[in-house]
Amino acid sequence: MSIYKNIFIVYYSGTGNSKRVSEWIAGIAKEKGLNVFLFSYQEFINAPRPELTGKTLIGLCSATHGFNLPHSFIKLIFRFKLYPNSDVFIINTRAGMKLGKIFLPGLSGITQFLPALVLFFKGYKVVAMQPVDLPSNWISIHPGLKEKVVNSMYLKWKEKIKVFTENILNGKGTYIDSFIYLPLDILVAPIALGYYFVGRFVLAKTFIATDKCNKCGICIESCPTKSIKYIDDRPYWKLTCESCMHCMNYCPQRAIETPHSIVIPLIWLISVVINPFVAKHALIIIKNHFLFSQKLSENIISVVGMLVTIFSFVLTYYVLHFLLRYKYFNKLITYTSLTKFNFWRRYKIPN
Ligand SMILES: Cc1cc2nc3c(=O)[nH]c(=O)nc-3n(C[C@H](O)[C@H](O)[C@H](O)COP(=O)(O)O)c2cc1C
Ligand code: SF4
Ligand code: SF4
Repeated sequence: MSIYKNIFIVYYSGTGNSKRVSEWIAGIAKEKGLNVFLFSYQEFINAPRPELTGKTLIGLCSATHGFNLPHSFIKLIFRFKLYPNSDVFIINTRAGMKLGKIFLPGLSGITQFLPALVLFFKGYKVVAMQPVDLPSNWISIHPGLKEKVVNSMYLKWKEKIKVFTENILNGKGTYIDSFIYLPLDILVAPIALGYYFVGRFVLAKTFIATDKCNKCGICIESCPTKSIKYIDDRPYWKLTCESCMHCMNYCPQRAIETPHSIVIPLIWLISVVINPFVAKHALIIIKNHFLFSQKLSENIISVVGMLVTIFSFVLTYYVLHFLLRYKYFNKLITYTSLTKFNFWRRYKIPN
């Protein structure tokens, strides 16, 4: 018998890891006779909220993006006010890896402590926090893991989640795994800010559709943030893209690539040429025209650098998208994208 009558889970999942973990928990809760409500982020914002009586356990389960929650899920957490004073558990799936027989964990950064804090101040009781190390889906920067490795991670975590679920349903919360990684998570926390204010916009501009695209529209339809539209009769990625990796991993034509031959030189150009040039001149302007302290001037220059970085990516992407209409340019970009080659696998969850 569980101490709860209802369990209400909301998950944000690009490629299925967080969805699968939520389904495991929902399945066990159902077997134990709880009323189970399972919503994806998109379903949750559109669906009517059921009236619940009896003690409710709320589960929030999300992918980790840049040591943080995805932007949509952060918004959801800040606006969350359902079933006040309920117990809450927080799960984040993150980039597990495997070296030989050794499973390596990902890093959560603020993915757990940010929602825990926000929900605590809203009056919820956070009874458990659990990072889950499933395969990394970030195939813009590395090939998808081998099927055998993916399966072994899934087998391991299915068992661990079973124990976790039985414990929380019996009122035995846990924070151990979250606290073990706390020093490392604190160390990378500043990067979460960089990712949130710059990284995610830059990454939104690292997807192209090659000539293999047959305009089936599946990526447009299935994008959780509706961030792809047709421009010039080809998919075009908007700044609202959260790099959940769904489109790239699940395009039936394998037509979506990351144009490494553009992205890598552009990062070099921005960090070695453009930003130092802008910083030098911005500093001269600030010194000549304003009476700002050194610290304030440095902060202003950092913000300018961030804006320049985003603007450079947006502009380059716009030109790139235009040029991709030319067959030979399209081929050149396609064959200089690492993601194009067969050794660069896509990531799929088991079954
Ligand atoms: C843009 C992006 C950023 C990511 N950042 C992190 C990270 O900071 N730490 C981490 O451990 N995993 C990170 N990952 C890996 C995913 O969080 C991980 O694969 C997750 O299980 C994916 O869940 P999903 O299939 O439910 O979308 C990142 C993945 C992507 C695509
Ligand atoms: S899913 Fe692939 S083939 Fe279909 S429209 Fe998108 S990029 Fe083109
Ligand atoms: S455009 Fe692709 S990567 Fe971006 S949010 Fe949509 S499905 Fe995810």
